[in-house]
Amino acid sequence: MKKLVFATNNVHKLAEIRDVVSGQYEVLGLQDIGCNEDIPEPYETLEENAYAKSSYIAENYGIDCFADDTGLEIEALNGKPGVYSARYAGEHKSFDDNMNKVLAELEGEENRRACFRSVISLIMNGEEKQFEGVVWGTMLKEKRGTQGFGYDPIFQPDGYAQSFAEMPLDEKNKISHRAKAVGKLIAYLTE
Ligand code: IMP
Repeated sequence: MKKLVFATNNVHKLAEIRDVVSGQYEVLGLQDIGCNEDIPEPYETLEENAYAKSSYIAENYGIDCFADDTGLEIEALNGKPGVYSARYAGEHKSFDDNMNKVLAELEGEENRRACFRSVISLIMNGEEKQFEGVVWGTMLKEKRGTQGFGYDPIFQPDGYAQSFAEMPLDEKNKISHRAKAVGKLIAYLTE
């Protein structure tokens, strides 16, 4: 099976992607290649941050690699938290702190439209290619469910009565932003 490095230490994301590509690729995480560095993501766009990570691994480890960057983009907040999704309530704050900040900012707001957007940067044979996945939905008024991670308890994807955190992982994986971006990545890799 062909090996590919996914430039992340996030066990949730590795599990999701392995579930989607199982049988086609062996996906290694940063720990599997002995990379313990915290790769900087200093930019203002998902595209630039994804490339910062993939190019870091490709240049320093000489291995084909992909990296993703994801943000929750809320219409009523002009696209925030966006690229700041991981640290919206501040550095070293929890998923709960971030959700509480979003819920407070949306208090009394009628426009609950939002999307998760993932950008994957693949570096293969020295060339970069990017793939985007988007899932639209509604910001809930309270947290529901315990599955998943991040903002899952307060995001309900279009066409479903459950929040992402109320869905089994394999259900979320069929429709998620990351699954869509990975689907495009896999289509490209196998074409
Ligand atoms: P990352 O850049 O992919 O690590 O994502 C940045 C932040 O977006 C994470 O720390 C989460 O707060 C949030 N996020 C990313 N993917 C998801 C998801 O599938 N569900 C909920 N929140 C997510």
